Amino acid sequence: MVRLTGKHPFNAEVSVNSLFDGGFLTPAELFYTRSHGAVPKIEGEVLKNWKLNFTGMVEKDISFTLEQLKTQFETVSLPITLVCAGNRRREQNVKEKGLGFNWGPAGVSTALFTGVYLADILKVAKPKKVNGVRPLHVIFEGYDFDLPQGPYGTSQRLSWASDRKHGILIAWAMNGIPLEPDHGFPLRVVCPGMVGGRSVKWLHKIEVADHESTHHLHIYDNKVLPTQVGPEQARAETHWWYNPKYTIQELNVNSAICKPGHDETVPISTTPSYTFRGYAYAGGGRRIHRVEVSLDEGATWTLAEIEYPEDKFRELAFNDATFGTIDMTERDECFCWCFWNFEIPMDRLKDSACIAVRAMDESLAFQQRDMYWNATGMMNNWWFRVAVHVEG
Ligand code: MTE
Repeated sequence: MVRLTGKHPFNAEVSVNSLFDGGFLTPAELFYTRSHGAVPKIEGEVLKNWKLNFTGMVEKDISFTLEQLKTQFETVSLPITLVCAGNRRREQNVKEKGLGFNWGPAGVSTALFTGVYLADILKVAKPKKVNGVRPLHVIFEGYDFDLPQGPYGTSQRLSWASDRKHGILIAWAMNGIPLEPDHGFPLRVVCPGMVGGRSVKWLHKIEVADHESTHHLHIYDNKVLPTQVGPEQARAETHWWYNPKYTIQELNVNSAICKPGHDETVPISTTPSYTFRGYAYAGGGRRIHRVEVSLDEGATWTLAEIEYPEDKFRELAFNDATFGTIDMTERDECFCWCFWNFEIPMDRLKDSACIAVRAMDESLAFQQRDMYWNATGMMNNWWFRVAVHVEG
């Protein structure tokens, strides 16, 4: 793990070459971590009395113990890729240092999350109009109360959250084991296809409201401000942060080269060809439809092969004590990364200094040549490039 912010808080990613070492599902020790403050101590009496509280524009305030969540609702498991909106920020900071720290391209990981659908709980909590005003948002709050501006909180549209199709889970386990403290023990939200910042850890409260979250980090985080706004201006002028147009929800299409690493030297003698490998993902449940590689700075592109390990889960339909129901047979949303590879004869590689990759999703959104620099350094998805050297 590479620590990105010193000792505290713990924010870390693995080197991109090791990102797939655990395969499609990332084990906890390789899973990226992004926390704004210290991990709250949830143990002893606090853990024993842990409740998820529903409040706001609902029929009546209601709360669930962990046991009640596990027994009163259908337990389900879904493979979901989480991505920090700051993934690949380092490239933006090289152009001009923005407000955030240097994520490489490994601020992304995948796990089989186990929990219950938020949609199912909302059916019981029953959102309702108050004085003729419609409820529109679900606000999640974490237990990280030591943050200087109050606990981490953020929100999601109620219409999105109320639909099982979008797969939002209230989860207690990751890859069959209870969440690690770093990843939200004992309970977290997991919002597939959305920026990782919406997946609130150490979840203790959900409020149904007619407005977005007013938590400090809902306002001052997970936004792509216009490119003209530099870091100083962003710090000085708060109105940029209050404009809901700059809020980011769904992930944008992205891909990266994991092997070889940037500036790596490829041994020429061993094989007649070399295989580039990487990942791609899209947001909002959309599928990646193509990944292309260029050896000549985008003058020409060739299709890479894509592998969708998530589709193996679509062939399964079962129920067991650890995972509850795993049934994606009727689900066509894509919530996970896919892997791509591109084999190139060694003699072509010799001439190439720079390899670029770009992906396209099913809505035909694709990665652009130019970076959209922004002060928060978020959603960076220009072509991913590595320089490769060939030995000999
Ligand atoms: N939830 C709380 N309570 N506090 C946080 O700091 N960070 C968010 C989100 N949920 C955060 C949080 C961000 S920005 C991301 S990218 C994801 O958690 C990271 O989840 P992970 O650390 O499990 O990978």
